[in-house]
Amino acid sequence: MIRLDKFISDLSMETRKTVKNMIKSGRIKLNGSVCKNADIKIDENRDIVEIDGKALTYSKKIYIVMNKPAGVVCSNSEPGEKTVFDILPQNLMRKDIFTVGRLDKDTVGLLIITNDGDFSHRLMSPKKHIEKVYYAEGKGTLSDNAQNMFEEGMQLGRSRLKPAKLEILESGGETAKLRVIISEGKYHQVKRMFYKVGIEVTYLKRLSLGGLTLDESLKEGSARIMTEDEIEQIFNI
Ligand code: URA
Repeated sequence: MIRLDKFISDLSMETRKTVKNMIKSGRIKLNGSVCKNADIKIDENRDIVEIDGKALTYSKKIYIVMNKPAGVVCSNSEPGEKTVFDILPQNLMRKDIFTVGRLDKDTVGLLIITNDGDFSHRLMSPKKHIEKVYYAEGKGTLSDNAQNMFEEGMQLGRSRLKPAKLEILESGGETAKLRVIISEGKYHQVKRMFYKVGIEVTYLKRLSLGGLTLDESLKEGSARIMTEDEIEQIFNI
């Protein structure tokens, strides 16, 4: 917790006196409302402070876990599309955050959002072979040799994929239910892998990333700050 005037003066490089005047004249908003109290204590990790409508970004690292819903895209801005940042609670919003990799618009599940490039690199670097686990449902007839094809590392376009693990939870009926573990992140990889073995994916959910498992108490569309243990787990990879 930090006093509002100190917070602004630290980040804006203005003197405490100038900041007090800015506050008095109504130029400062705290979490969306004008705040004229310079002494108020704010949470520098959560509260949003604006000067003349522009949010101040606290440079501290932030790590967010979201249960991404369908219908939102992972890019920072895509004209006409709702993004994961549009649905982030205001107290988690920062100007400098980005998603660690991307999920398709219709994919749901575990998504990490941060402003820490090093952290993101640990999870995304192809050298690290970070495991990603997905649950999928789809239509079609699963090829008999699907599990072997996944294990051997299939050819997808010009890429030879790394070995993956396919678990068949249910097949032969109207909807195949499958679980897959991959260790890379090519464009539409899971959908394309399943397509190659006869399945058109109708539902895809990421269950885990780098050993971090989706917290089922986090409802679709919700997000929270990662716990210290969760952050450490990724840094220990
Ligand atoms: N593979 C896909 O095909 N889509 C995703 O969103 C993630 C992995």
